[in-house]
Amino acid sequence: MIPRFDATSFSVVTAEMQQAFNRDGVLVLDGLIPEAKCDELCSHMDDMMASFDVDEHASVFSSASQAHAQDEYFLSSGHTTRFFFEEEAFDEDGALTKPLEKALNKVGHAMHDIDPEFDRFSRQPALAALARGLGLTDPKLAQSMYIFKQPEIGGEVLCHQDATYIRTNPNSCLGFWIALEDATEENGCLWGIPGGHLDGTNSGMPKSLFIREGVGTREEVLDETPYREKDCLPLPAPKGTVLAFGGLFPHMSRANRSAKSRHAYTLHIIDGATNYPDDNWLQRPEDMPFRGF
Ligand code: FE2
Repeated sequence: MIPRFDATSFSVVTAEMQQAFNRDGVLVLDGLIPEAKCDELCSHMDDMMASFDVDEHASVFSSASQAHAQDEYFLSSGHTTRFFFEEEAFDEDGALTKPLEKALNKVGHAMHDIDPEFDRFSRQPALAALARGLGLTDPKLAQSMYIFKQPEIGGEVLCHQDATYIRTNPNSCLGFWIALEDATEENGCLWGIPGGHLDGTNSGMPKSLFIREGVGTREEVLDETPYREKDCLPLPAPKGTVLAFGGLFPHMSRANRSAKSRHAYTLHIIDGATNYPDDNWLQRPEDMPFRGF
């Protein structure tokens, strides 16, 4: 059983919250974000999608033979706003079978720095207090993602640890998973393994590393023991709930086969006092360093 905390009037991380976070690897804060703010971000995303030109990007998304172009589009997304599609949104000829707003998997990865609405939402005082309260002395916002988990075609996300993708030495990755719509077992809510952040043979390290190599990436496995998936528990999150978890917390989500979408916004925060390796996939140009709150 993972405890839930009423965070409608959150101001600091309490000793009880800290204890739950340390023990389970995840902290569930209900009502941390007012529903109206969630709605505003969703409608802002509607506006962004309305000005997106599908044809301009079609060659990147539509064909397996374009894998290199997809890599390039992904690898250079750390300082800009890029649109990524659901695999099941295309037919075998590579044509989109859904309208854009029902075909996107996610948008990422720097809206928090280049879009004023996302900037404001990401740097609201409650999130700053949460990052500092959970131990980051110099929190820097590294990555943002708007995740759609579309009705019927929202893809499964296999069990993973975020520190595989956002590495610092020592590990400092902290993820905020914010429900912009109600996330339930039916529409593909997050699942996680309580205590799973303490498993593994490499203390303080994720089971694998996602490494940038030139214009591609490779995965390096450090620990081949499988995740304790039988212990995985659902983390349903009503609109406005924030799930806060460290980079070693194993989590996943099932496909969404329901008729309801499950929009979420995620932020990954690191401590500026740590080392950020230059073979992390996400790299910023020198004139655009990670910023704090
Ligand atoms: Fe994740």
